[in-house]
This record gives sequence, C-alpha cells and structure tokens, in this order.
Amino acid sequence: MICIGLEGTAEKTGVGIVDSEGNILALQGRALLPDKGGIHPREAAEHHAENLVPLIKKSLEEANLKPEDLDMVAFARGPGLGPALRTVATAARSLALSLDVPIVGVNHCIGHIEIGRLTTGCQDPLTLYVSGGNTQVTAFDSGRYQIFGETLDIAIGNCLDQFARTVGLGHPGGPRVEELALASDNYLKLPYTVKGMDLSFSGLLTAAIRKYESGAALEDVCYSLQETTFAMLVEVTERALAHSKKSEVLLVGGVAANQRLREMLEVMTQEHYADFFMPEMKYCGDNGAMNAWLGLLMYRHAKNLNMADTHVIQRYRTDQVDVPWMEKSARKLELPVELVAKGAEANICSGHYLDEEVLLKKRVVKGYRIREIDAYLRRKRTKNEAKLLGEAKRCGVVTPLVYDVDLKESVITMEKVAGNEVKVIFSGENSMDLSTIKSISRIIGENVARLHDCGIIHGDLTTSNIILREDGDSVVFIDFGLGKISDLIEDKGVDLLVFKKAINGIHHDISRECFDSIIEGYSCARDCKEIVAKIEEIEGRGRYT
Ligand SMILES: Nc1ncnc2c1ncn2[C@@H]1O[C@H](COP(=O)(O)OP(=O)(O)O)[C@@H](O)[C@H]1O
Ligand SMILES: [Mg+2]
Repeated sequence: MICIGLEGTAEKTGVGIVDSEGNILALQGRALLPDKGGIHPREAAEHHAENLVPLIKKSLEEANLKPEDLDMVAFARGPGLGPALRTVATAARSLALSLDVPIVGVNHCIGHIEIGRLTTGCQDPLTLYVSGGNTQVTAFDSGRYQIFGETLDIAIGNCLDQFARTVGLGHPGGPRVEELALASDNYLKLPYTVKGMDLSFSGLLTAAIRKYESGAALEDVCYSLQETTFAMLVEVTERALAHSKKSEVLLVGGVAANQRLREMLEVMTQEHYADFFMPEMKYCGDNGAMNAWLGLLMYRHAKNLNMADTHVIQRYRTDQVDVPWMEKSARKLELPVELVAKGAEANICSGHYLDEEVLLKKRVVKGYRIREIDAYLRRKRTKNEAKLLGEAKRCGVVTPLVYDVDLKESVITMEKVAGNEVKVIFSGENSMDLSTIKSISRIIGENVARLHDCGIIHGDLTTSNIILREDGDSVVFIDFGLGKISDLIEDKGVDLLVFKKAINGIHHDISRECFDSIIEGYSCARDCKEIVAKIEEIEGRGRYT
C-alpha cells in the first residue's frame, strides 16, 4: 500500500510518500520565511495553498509514481494553526475524493514520534518533542502516548524565535541564537522555571530581553538563554525518564537541529544508562512522510474510517489517540550495584551514620549543564529539601529523618524508610487492588492538604516521591528539592496538576479513580474549591501559541 502524506500545521508545507513496509519514497517540503515579523496563521495557510499542488507533483516525480498508484491520503488534523490546518485538510479531502482512496487524519505530534521510531529503530522511547509550536515529553503507557511534561505557556522554538525577533536577529531565530551563543561562555543568570515535569518559558523570555535591553552583550544573552532553556528541557526529560524507567530517549522536532541541545540530551541519556536516538534532520522537522507513515499505521488498525473524522482539531492532544500498534519494551534499565536507586536528580546509596543504616542522597554533577547552573541548582535544592523535610514534619506529614546535610557535596544523609514507592503499589506486577489504591490516594490527598495549609508546595509530587511504609500505616513524603513556601492558589493548583499529570503518565488506567480519591482526601484543605478550580483553569490555558 502506498500513502501520500500532507503536512501544514505551521509554516512548513510538506509532502511525503511512504509504502506499508516503511520505505520513504518521496520527501518534499517548503518553509515560509517571512521577511519580518513572525508567522501569521493566514499567511501560513496561503503558503500551503500555493505550495501543496507543486509539492505533490514533485513527490510523485521523485517516487516515480502516477497519481493512480496512490492507495491512500493522510494529513495532520492538528495540533496547529487553524487556517493552516483547514487548508491542508481541504486539499487532502479533495485529493482523496478525486483518487477515490481512503483518507486518514492523524495527530502531528504522534507523526514525529512514529517517523522517529521508523527511521532510527528505537522501540519504546521517551520522546522529547521540541518545535516552534510544541514542547512535550511523552512516553507510551496503557495504549497511548502519555504526556509526562509540556510547556505551560509558549513552546521553546517560539521562545527562541520571539527573542531573536525582538533583538533584531530576524526569523527563524533559533539558528542565529545558536551561532551567537558559540561566541560566549559568560553566563548571565536567568530564571529557571521547571515545575515537576512541566516547563514555563514566557517569564524567562522577558527576562532575557530585559538583559539585552539593559546593555548586556547579545552573545552573552544568547548563550545564557540557550543554556537555561535547554537545561530545563533536558531536566524534565530526565525526570520523566527516572519516573517512567524507559531505556531509550528520542529527540524530534525542528529545535533538534540545535547541536547544543542534542549534545546535552545525549549526555543526560548516557548518565542514566539509556540509549539516545535522533532521526536525520529531514525527518526531524515537520514533513509529509511522518503523516503518511502514521496514516498507514492507523489505517492498518482502523475499524471504520469516516470522512467526518477528517475535521481539524486545533488543540489535538497526543494522549487523545489510541496507538494499538505500540508495545511496551520489556527492557529494563540496569543500574550499577552500588546504587540503591537513581532518581531524576540524585544517586541514592546505602551508608551508616553512627549505628544507623541510612541512605545518602547525593545530587550528582550533571554533565549536560554548565557549571554555573549545575552548582546553583544542586546547592539550592539540597538546602531546600533539607529545610522542607523538617518543615513538613511540623505540619504533621511524615518525612524521613535528616541526620546530616553536606552542602558542599550536595549530600543529605537520611533515614532509610522501609517500604515501597507508591508507584509500584499502584501499577505493575505487585500492584494492589483498586479499593486499597483509592484509600491510599485519599490519605495522600489529606497529607498534601496538610502541606498546603502550612504553605508548603512540594513541587514534584509523583508516585515515585511517596513511600508507603512497610507496616502500611503511613505514607512518607520525600524529595522536596523543587519545593517552596507559598500560599498562592496558583502554586497549590500547579502542585496538584503536576501530580495529576505524573499519575496520568504512568498509572493511566486507574488515573481518574486515583486522582479523584486524592482530591477527596484534599477536600479538607483551606481554599480547596478554588484550588481545584485552578487546576482546570491552568489545564485550559493555551499551549499552542
Ligand atoms: N529516605 C528514603 N527511604 C527509602 N527510599 C528512598 C528514600 N529516599 C529516596 N528513596 C528512593 O530513591 C528514589 C530516588 O530518591 P529521590 O529523593 O526521589 O531522588 P530524586 O530527587 O533524584 O528523584 C526514590 O524514588 C525512592 O525509591
Ligand atoms: Mg524523586
């Protein structure tokens, strides 16, 4: 079967032809490059309207095929810019009708993952997808690609482009920022905004622009902007890797063209004993072949395809789509024997303190980020964690006893809690029954309420960061490194949203029951109603800008 795929979710028009064995027979594309300003959705749509037909013709020539050799048409329904999506959908429908072949509308983000798997040979990766319109970390679980982390405001590509435009570097700005960054190693401190596995770039963008406006050298700002945003991207990928325990990392999307980002992600992947993959650049950015290949996969598993399923979905989420062709890899990461556990940030080893058997949590140097950021984060988080472990206790939340804090080496010596991570109780071979899971979830919710009522934001609520004591009578909260003191409804909402997403990513089949029970337990918190409403509001904020 031969499929033609059309792409035009943003400023790039793409056409590709792929057969059902995964051979890419043609790949043609053309990007809109405005003289000044950013991408206007209507101009993108016009660009697709002008370029689709010539690119289809060129693709057929490249593949040495005639139109009647095509067996199906695929295109991306979203996410993307409304006018652009509608133009491409209309073209795809007309093409399918005139050829009298089936048509499949696909999810653009999944297209990136699937062409990545096809062209690199990775099986079950954790994917970092970075482009002008999207920034997300996804991994397969329970029949779908679940979103582990994503931007809460603008995408990384948009952040770099907007910066470049504002300081007069033109569009697209990513390559110019990369070039200038090479000329500096003078780091200017910028806000570092990681929220659990989510990110935020807009405040950071403003801060970078201010630095430039107040006289800093452009090279230095470019360097600092890249180092900060990429360290954040790599860190959320690292958090998702530690939580999901996948053994492969895949980098896709237009921003993958950046050498520095690639290098950083590769170093992180090696530090976690996993394998790094990235498709050739022509398959990394938006292209038609990815939609063609995903269309073939979907067609193979589709029950009944309907022309009505070709309407566009501007905010089409990756986790809305079933991916029945995917299977979980059985491969497990192997840790060196001296490690009890490897978290996102720290290595956990056994040790002794006086006569006690204890755990040493060492925030190790991360080779992927520059020394200035690394030293700052390790020290700040170690200090923060030690402080909040104590504060939380005073609010009636059980945390491990802290015996010693070594800020120079970023090591916390603490009580070894006998028990299991809640993660292994909620899912997997040794999981408990649903009613037990729900009652544990309620207890967890009550404890989060206690933290919040005392003004403590945990910052990284996941089921890896809560331990159920062996005797089963208490939950122990650990890993407060990203925590802070705040009484803001927004911060409490984000804290719970981080938790909700972490549960959704890894315990997808029971996530609703779990989170509902957590909220039930949380209902004793001050301002509970407003906080819960806030979660929905934050979820609803635009991610495609
Ligand atoms: N005090 C402790 N008692 C028992 N297990 C722990 C303790 N601290 C950490 N662990 C285990 O080590 C893992 C990683 O520790 P964590 O503090 O979450 O590090 P990171 O900040 O790197 O995520 C945890 O998920 C948990 O399984
Ligand atoms: Mg942790």
